[in-house]
Amino acid sequence: MEIKFIKNENLKNKPADQSKLGFGKLFTDYMFVMDYETGKGWHDARIEPYAPISLDPSAMIFHYGQGIFEGLKAYKAPEGRILLFRPDMNFKRANISNERLCIPQIDEAFAIEALIRLIDIEKDWIPTEPGTSLYIRPFIIATDPYLGVKPSSTYKFMIILSPVGAYYPEGLNPVKIYVEDEYVRAVRGGIGFAKTPGNYAASIRAQEKAYELGYTQVLWLDGIDQKYIEEVGTMNVFFVVDGEILTPALNGSILAGVTRDSTINLLKSWGYKVNERKISIVELYDAYNEGKLQEIFGTGTAAVISPVGELNWEGRKMVINNGEIGKLSQKIYDTITGIQCGKINDTMNWTVEVK
Ligand code: COI
Repeated sequence: MEIKFIKNENLKNKPADQSKLGFGKLFTDYMFVMDYETGKGWHDARIEPYAPISLDPSAMIFHYGQGIFEGLKAYKAPEGRILLFRPDMNFKRANISNERLCIPQIDEAFAIEALIRLIDIEKDWIPTEPGTSLYIRPFIIATDPYLGVKPSSTYKFMIILSPVGAYYPEGLNPVKIYVEDEYVRAVRGGIGFAKTPGNYAASIRAQEKAYELGYTQVLWLDGIDQKYIEEVGTMNVFFVVDGEILTPALNGSILAGVTRDSTINLLKSWGYKVNERKISIVELYDAYNEGKLQEIFGTGTAAVISPVGELNWEGRKMVINNGEIGKLSQKIYDTITGIQCGKINDTMNWTVEVK
């Protein structure tokens, strides 16, 4: 499919101070858009000026949340090369989410091609300071003007770009986490494994509760027994217990994170045993009391690695590694960001160059 280009005559000023980017507040000059209609398929692929879009107030996305999204990043390597990190994983997952939400499949190779075109046009927006990148947000929304609950027959697939710094204001400093025992994020048979707005909408109340109590995020327990650990905030979670690595097994209610997969592969390549299994909060608390809980960290595209310095489970406080970043958390962060920015040799073949 051809990708049309529509020139933007009003280019914005690029941010002067990269230390003040924050996360997801600024957007670049262009976006990618293509439309879907039953019988016609995906069509009218274009790169056009970033601008508000017009939708009917009855558009189905507003009412029933039939939509999906992805998140990945572009980086500028020292010699000016532009790198994407494992984009194939994101578009593969987009189609897994699409399947769950009854949204038509996209052509993954074409989506990567469109993204590469867009990044090439917007390459001057990629920030270069350590810890910064160009965050890429592909998403699909249901656009039929209709109030019945059924799959839409029209959709929009868009990609927008945002120069970003750290996701959490703490940066790589350990965050305090509240173990959430009232609200749940997802249940068996639900949509927890899909990257869809509803999962994030369901998480906001618990996040607000955690903030009010002085915590940055929550540790999610499973939606059935409220006993087994699932995710931390919007991230996957890892534990270092007595030198071994534990992470919850993908069970249908956990998102299959790209950074999760990269972390597991790196750890295995370094000779660590990585146990993907059910982990109860009781087991974790016991490990803590026996002095075996050495590190906890979250993994996600936005923050990459987010060390946990403290957990509060029903008033029982666990201070992890004296509230300091652990050696392994630091090593994984340095390695993944090093590969992403082209400063470390990419022996895993994870990066894709934009050229
Ligand atoms: C992550 O990368 O950690 C995410 O889940 C995306 C986030 C901005 C919601």
